[in-house]
Amino acid sequence: MRANPSLGDLPLRPELAGEEPYGAPQLDVPVRLNVNENPYPPSVDVLADMAIATARLGKGVHRYPDREATALRAALAGYLNSQLEAAGLASAAVLGAEHIWAANGSNEVMLHLCQAFAGPSRRVLAFTPTYSMYPQYARDSHSRYLTAPRLADFTVDPLIARAAIATYRPSLAVIASPNNPTGTSTPLSSIRRILSDIEEIGVDTILVVDEAYQEFSRHPDNTALQLLGEYGNLVVVRTMSKAFAFAGGRVGYLAAAPAIVDACRIVRLPYHLSAQTQALAQVALAHADEMLSRVAELRETRDSMIERLSQLGLEVIDSDANFCLFGPFSDRHDVWQRLLDRGVLVREVGPEGFLRVCAGTPAETDAFVAAIAAVLEEL
Ligand SMILES: Cc1ncc(COP(=O)(O)O)c(C=O)c1O
Repeated sequence: MRANPSLGDLPLRPELAGEEPYGAPQLDVPVRLNVNENPYPPSVDVLADMAIATARLGKGVHRYPDREATALRAALAGYLNSQLEAAGLASAAVLGAEHIWAANGSNEVMLHLCQAFAGPSRRVLAFTPTYSMYPQYARDSHSRYLTAPRLADFTVDPLIARAAIATYRPSLAVIASPNNPTGTSTPLSSIRRILSDIEEIGVDTILVVDEAYQEFSRHPDNTALQLLGEYGNLVVVRTMSKAFAFAGGRVGYLAAAPAIVDACRIVRLPYHLSAQTQALAQVALAHADEMLSRVAELRETRDSMIERLSQLGLEVIDSDANFCLFGPFSDRHDVWQRLLDRGVLVREVGPEGFLRVCAGTPAETDAFVAAIAAVLEEL
């Protein structure tokens, strides 16, 4: 083979031919509202504790980190228990480290689930439109990816879900709630219904509820966490990347029956979570109230952004997350580019003709609204 081969020269897996690496453009522009981050950096106090933790780590950096990340998982369990308590659900399942699995972002948690439960000749079912990484987890675990449609209001209809699960008999069925890119929450009653249908159909399906954006929901009690004590095939996936303002730290996690955690432990790489990741995430969790202190404000920003976009004559999809879809545009790429030309980065994703924008600081959100108003005027 020549010294500097192209992809086509390499014995790449055939199903990867022509594939592009996943990811939104990372552009250095003044207003970045394209990947649903929390726009606020940590406080000075949190940064000081992170610096102390980092300095302490230095002494032990010649050793591997805790392979089981037990202290981090216990801290995550404590966080979820406090979330349940705050939502008035203290009597729901009390979680311990044994119920929690953590990895480098919920992306990796989902990949672990696919590696453990899906794979060749097995199927992964999702309800579209939904998060565009789901087909990639299936591809990378050699699983077949199948979809069933959401309703016109983007909710998951339990009857459609039942029919799809009975037909496809998937190993994993995934429901994002609130959903990305639509922001739609699926009511807990529907999740419960789907779980009981899985039992009734008699299929070995694990239901994954991806609650990456649940902290932004108007209904904190609409969490599948409270069903964990009843259903051993339920997995609730969460992340520290969104409301928790820790996207750069890369920590996602799941809560489920301990046996599901054990299955993930089989497929993970040894020492997959670095000592730095574990330590900094624990600092962030010890300051949970501070890390989440802007969430109420971001919810309000989302609501006012939806209103302001509607006032501009746009159709806006109501959202329970920290972002919303707006449109429709006959050429959404053109609108995306015109916004970028004004220093505002949004995401070209979701139903045809729509763009997605996330709630930023008041200044960022104002800049976005001014930019889209100017673009509409121009068009
Ligand atoms: C629905 C959903 N799940 C999971 C993720 C992955 O987040 P992370 O890997 O940063 O935890 C995202 C990120 O955008 C998402 O929108």
